[in-house]
Amino acid sequence: MYNKAIKQYLEYLKLSGIQDIFVKPPLQINKTELLKELEEKYHTCTKCVLHVERNKFCYGNGNADARLLIIGEGPGAEEDRMGKVFVGRSGQLLTKMLSAINLSREEVYIANIVKCRPPDNRNPLPEEKSACLPYLEEQISIIQPEFILILGKVAAVTLLEIEQTLKAFRQQTYNFNGIKTFVSYHPSALLRNPNWKTFAWIDLQKLQKDYFGQ
Ligand code: URA
Repeated sequence: MYNKAIKQYLEYLKLSGIQDIFVKPPLQINKTELLKELEEKYHTCTKCVLHVERNKFCYGNGNADARLLIIGEGPGAEEDRMGKVFVGRSGQLLTKMLSAINLSREEVYIANIVKCRPPDNRNPLPEEKSACLPYLEEQISIIQPEFILILGKVAAVTLLEIEQTLKAFRQQTYNFNGIKTFVSYHPSALLRNPNWKTFAWIDLQKLQKDYFGQ
């Protein structure tokens, strides 16, 4: 979008007789600082009803320069208490899943579709998701990861805007704004159905292959 506007502007300058322009190199942005500032700015958000019962706003955690961004659905009780994403039982399983493919929590960035806990861990409502999505979109545009891993159907449907089963989602990768995107099981689903771990392992290996260029 911006590229097209810039191109048109350059054409206009050329037609106006301007032959040379001096372009200052873009400022080096510190992504960690920027995300921290934005978290401070948004943590009192009241854009949807989820703020009413929230203890803590869970913006996202991890490496702002990550090559891999992991996207879950929304904070649970433990996350709501701590203000950090994936720190409860699902988070512990997620840490193990990552370490199985030689990745650490410190290397990746993790965020959710909604930043505040839905009561009783219900699915976020459409109006809650649309109020919160700009935060995630902004995080993605700052981090600019090479890969995204979406956990679970709710997050996949919301982000990819395709209504299909998780099984169907897992069959292929997606191009989300130029970022190679994988979909797999949410760790809480794996806690409920340990048999599915075999399939999750297949998904993780595909991601590992691309991530490490094997
Ligand atoms: N489940 C999620 O989707 N996100 C969290 O942060 C924790 C549990």
